[in-house]
Amino acid sequence: MLPPGTPLHNPYGGDATVARAGAALFTSMNCDGCHGADASGWVGPDLGDGRWRYGGSDTDVFRSIFYGRPKGMPAFGGVVGADGVWVLITYLRSLPAPADEPTESWPQR
Ligand code: HEC
Repeated sequence: MLPPGTPLHNPYGGDATVARAGAALFTSMNCDGCHGADASGWVGPDLGDGRWRYGGSDTDVFRSIFYGRPKGMPAFGGVVGADGVWVLITYLRSLPAPADEPTESWPQR
């Protein structure tokens, strides 16, 4: 185990093949059951909009998936292992950020 506080680094960062495997894992682990198709948000938050409740660094997102989060995010570390968490993160990083952030005010017509 790494000492606590060590920043984590995704060994697959930017690998398109791994991102596709992550998309399949996202569905088979039923992440999409809570986070919606394409991780666009359902009972769990949107994971592709570039906004994060618990931080968006590799280390933060790894912790969210590996250990879970208090308001309804189960821990998946024991299910997919550290390697599987990185595969999932590689998929999430491949999602295109929306052109229009949902928090923006609507233009007056
Ligand atoms: C049972 C429903 C459920 C499932 C299944 C689920 N999530 Fe979540 N997830 C949530 C909820 C609800 C939150 C928000 C938790 C909070 O605010 O404390 C969350 C939070 C997260 C976060 C942190 C988001 C942020 O803004 O910081 C990540 C990353 C995440 N989930 C990824 C995943 C992945 C990957 C999977 C599949 C392996 C998954 N989730 C499966 C419900 C779920």
